[in-house]
Amino acid sequence: MKYTFVTLFPNLIEGYFKDSILKRAIDKGIIEIDYLNPRDYSKNKHFKVDDTAVGGGAGMVMNPQPLFDALDDLRCKDENVHIVFLTPVAKPFVQNDAKRLAQKSHIAFVSGRYEGIDERVIEKYADEVFSIGDYVLTGGELASLIICDATSRNIEGVLGNSQSLEVESFETPLLEAPSFSKPKMYEGLSVPSEYLKGNHSKIRSLKLALSECKTKFFRPDELKKYKVTAKL
Ligand code: ADE
Repeated sequence: MKYTFVTLFPNLIEGYFKDSILKRAIDKGIIEIDYLNPRDYSKNKHFKVDDTAVGGGAGMVMNPQPLFDALDDLRCKDENVHIVFLTPVAKPFVQNDAKRLAQKSHIAFVSGRYEGIDERVIEKYADEVFSIGDYVLTGGELASLIICDATSRNIEGVLGNSQSLEVESFETPLLEAPSFSKPKMYEGLSVPSEYLKGNHSKIRSLKLALSECKTKFFRPDELKKYKVTAKL
C-alpha cells in the first residue's frame, strides 16, 4: 500500500512513521509513504496557496490552482490512486471504512488548513470525503494520520498477530472486554478472580458479560444493534 499525504505541512505527519508498528511495516516494504506539497505547485509569485472567501466569511480558503495541479500530477502518475479528503463536513470514518480502504493499492489524503478547501477541488477530485468526528481541528493532517493508522492495521502483515484483529471492539457491535497484565495483584488491586482460575469457558462468559456491560455504559447506541445475553 502506498499513502501520499497532500499537505502544506509534511513535518506534522513524518514523525508518526518513525517508530513502532507503522515503521516496521515500512521497513518490511508493506507500506510506503510519500508527500505532495500544494505550495510546490503554486503559480503565484510568492507561492501563495490561499485567499479570502468569495461571498464573504471568516478566514482563508485554499485556492483551487495549486491543488488542481498537484492532484492532476498525482493521477497522471497513478490512475488508480484513491483520493480521500479530510473535512469536518463529511460522513464519519468507521472501522468498516478502514477494512475497505485496506484493499486499495494507493491512497492520497488531502488535508485542508485555514477555513478549508475550495469546494471545486473536492467536487473534481474526491473519491471519498471523511470526517473523524464532530469537532473542528486546525487542519486535516491528524485526521489523515488516524485514517491511515486504522487502515494499515487491516493490511496483511502489518500486525504480528492477525488474531488480535478478530476480537477487537467494532469488529462486533460490542466493545472489547477489559484486558489485564501482570502482576495479578498491584497496589491492592486484583485482576478479576475468574481470569486467574484457568477455566476458559468461564473466562469467555465473563468477558462477554463485561463487554456487554461496557457497551451499555459507554455506547448504548451500539448495544441496540445487539441481542444482550447477560443480565445487565
Ligand atoms: N479537519 C478539521 N476538522 C476535521 C475533522 N473533524 N475531521 C476531518 N478533517 C478535519
